[in-house]
Order: sequence, then structure tokens, then C-alpha cells
Amino acid sequence: MSYDTIEVSTQGPEGQQVGLIRLNRPKQLNALNDQLMDELGAALLAFDADDGVGCIIVTGSDKAFAAGADINMFLPFDFAQAFGQGLISRNWETILKVRKPVIAAVSGFALGGGCELAMMCDFIIAADNAKFGQPEVKLGIIPGAGGTQRLPRSVGKSKAMDLALTGRMMDAQEAERCGLVSRVVPLDKLQDEALGAALQIAQYGRLAVLAIKESVNLAFEGPLRDGLQYERRLFHALFSTEDKTEGMDAFLNKRAPAFKNR
Ligand code: HXC
Repeated sequence: MSYDTIEVSTQGPEGQQVGLIRLNRPKQLNALNDQLMDELGAALLAFDADDGVGCIIVTGSDKAFAAGADINMFLPFDFAQAFGQGLISRNWETILKVRKPVIAAVSGFALGGGCELAMMCDFIIAADNAKFGQPEVKLGIIPGAGGTQRLPRSVGKSKAMDLALTGRMMDAQEAERCGLVSRVVPLDKLQDEALGAALQIAQYGRLAVLAIKESVNLAFEGPLRDGLQYERRLFHALFSTEDKTEGMDAFLNKRAPAFKNR
């Protein structure tokens, strides 16, 4: 399938590949419009359905992961049109249906909808030039793709309020300190770092990887008690897989495991 606003490729060994999606509207600093979000959704679902792919990376350019939703797109909308047509709801959250891990590799600006998209990924690896922010307040709107919900869960209420109410940007170091990103690396190392993490994930048993993602997401989104119960059920369930026996036997016998995803 060919795309206009994203570039798609795969890397890594057969059966344990990494799907790479690069946002590509350079003149607009990767501002997110409906076409891009439709194409991103289609590419994500295609990788999710591809048995040869074990992990996905979403990235942008050195200058911008994404400088937000495309403000040109929003301009004509009034309430009736936005609500009636399901603006954002219709096609921006396809990424949440993806069961395989999705890593955001962020360099440059990740603002507004760009920051929200990064937060919808499972973890964020940032280059040292990354800048995160929710500047919607400057446009007279609020974050509309989870920014007011996911940001406080990630960084706490005080920092989330500070960012969303002032619209200021925070740099990669601050983002790492407050837990928004998992790692910060020099810009020229970003792609290698993200690919290394993705290849590592892609080599593990698929069932364990899917279960971890599902369970961590529940910790993030639901009450602790439900999350712990769910985790324990999945933990017990994985004891009936061949991969669990293989993984443990391989460790105890000091050999490399050969996972079969069953
Ligand atoms: C449309 C955008 C854009 C955006 C940048 N551009 N961001 N176009 N929507 N979000 C365009 C500029 O208009 C300009 O086009 C070109 O990209 C380069 O941008 P410059 O401003 O010239 O670059 P620079 O001076 O380096 O400043 C970079 C920047 C600034 C700080 C990122 O562009 C900026 O503040 N952008 C807007 C950020 C923002 O408000 N994001 C939130 C959007 S609302 P021309 O044609 O002049 O070259 C949002 C809501 C989400 O995301 C809610 C639900 C999803």
C-alpha cells in the first residue's frame, strides 16, 4: 500500500521484524491532518496484523515529531460540525486498538496533538532536542486527544497543569525527569536506540509481550485493584503456554530460547 503523508518500512530478521512508520509532512512540521491520521491508522493496523512484525516504531523528522494537529483543518469547524462529524473520535485513536507494542521515537517538536499521539504510544524515547507541550490554550482550545488525561497520569497534576495552562514547552531532560519519556539520547542516536529496543521486544514470545502491554495499560487506565487482579489472571494464564516452558527451560539450561508464539 502506498501513502502520501507517512513512510513505512520494516527492519530486522524474518519473523521478528520491526515496523517503522515515519510521519512525513515536512513543510508543516508533520502537523497532523485527517489524511495523515487515516494513513497512520491503516499502517498501524497492517503491522498489527502482520505475523512477522513484533514491534512498531512511530517517528518523525529531526525537527518535528509532530507540531500538533493541523490548525488549518480545525479552523472551519464549529461545535455542531465537530461533534456531529466525530472530529478526532472518528479516526485519531486507531493506535489504541493496536495490540503490539508501539514506541514513539521523538525528536524536535511534539506539541498538542503531537504530544498526545506520542503519549498514545506505549513508551517514548526522546532525542536531546525534543520539546513537548500542550499549547492548545494559546489557540483558545484544550487538548482534545487525551492530553488532559494522559499527561497528569504520566507526570502528575502539578506539571500537567503547568504545561497545559501556560502552554510552555518542556525539553527532553525535564520530560525524562518527570517520567514522560523513558530514555533520552543524542539526536544522532535516536533511530538506533529505538530500533534496538524494538528489535529486543520483537524477539520475545509474542504472547508475553501482548499480555504485558495489556496489563500495564490497565494499570495506567483503571483502578489498582482491578489492574492487579487482571495481571494475576494473565500471569496464571501464561503458565499454559509453550513459550513459558521454553523460556524457563532455556534459562535454566543456559541456552537461547526458541519461542513459537503459542
Ligand atoms: C498547521 C503548522 C503547525 C500546525 C507549524 N505549522 N505547526 N501548520 N498546524 N500545528 C506550519 C507553520 O504554519 C509554517 O508554515 C511551517 O509549519 C513551519 O512552522 P514555523 O512556525 O515557521 O516554524 P518555527 O518558527 O520553527 O516554529 C515551530 C513551532 C511553531 C514552535 C512548532 O510552528 C508552532 O508554534 N506551531 C503551532 C504549535 C501548536 O499550536 N500546536 C497545537 C495545535 S492544536 P508556513 O506555510 O508558514 O511555512 C492541537 C490540538 C489537538 O494540536 C487536539 C486534538 C488532536
